[in-house]
Amino acid sequence: MQYDSCVISITLNGKRREFAVNPRETLLSLLRNRAHLTGTKQGCGLGECGACTVILNGRAVNSCCVFAEQCDGAEVETIEGVGTPERPHVLQQTFAELGAIQCGFCTPGMIMSAKALLEQNPSPTRNDILTALSGNLCRCTGYAKIEQAVMEAARRRAAAANERNCR
Ligand code: FES
Ligand code: FES
Repeated sequence: MQYDSCVISITLNGKRREFAVNPRETLLSLLRNRAHLTGTKQGCGLGECGACTVILNGRAVNSCCVFAEQCDGAEVETIEGVGTPERPHVLQQTFAELGAIQCGFCTPGMIMSAKALLEQNPSPTRNDILTALSGNLCRCTGYAKIEQAVMEAARRRAAAANERNCR
C-alpha cells in the first residue's frame, strides 16, 4: 500500500531540521535511519524496554511508540545532544565513574530518562529515580549503580548551582 508523505520540521538537538515522513514512520526510525543518530537504540520496538528513550518537548518518551508525523514543530533531544567526549554531561560522568555502564546498550535511554527527571526535579528522592527509570530495562548492571549515578549527578548539579549562587 502506498502512503503519502508529509514534511515535518523539528528542532533536533538544537538545530532546525526538515524531513519528509510517511504516516507509519516512527520517531525512532527517523532518528536512526534518516538523521543517522544511532545512539538511540532499538530494543523491543514495543514500548517495553526504554532503549529508544529520547526527550520530546521536555519529556522522556519511547521513540518507538511515537509517530514522526506527530513531532512536527517539536523539540527532540537525543543522546548525541547531551555532552561531548571533551565535555561530558554530569550524568555521563557519574555513570562512567560509578560503574553504571556495562554493555552500554541501555545507557543512552537511561541517560535521557534521568536527564528529563533532573530537569523537572533537581532533588529527586530514591523513589523518584526508580519511578523515572522504571521504563528502562538493563540486563547487566542490576540497577543499583544506575540509581547511585543519578543520585550523585543530582548532588553534583546542586553543588554547582550553590557555588554559582555564592559567587
Ligand atoms: Fe522502544 Fe523498546 S525499543 S521501548
Ligand atoms: Fe547492558 Fe544495561 S549496561 S543492558
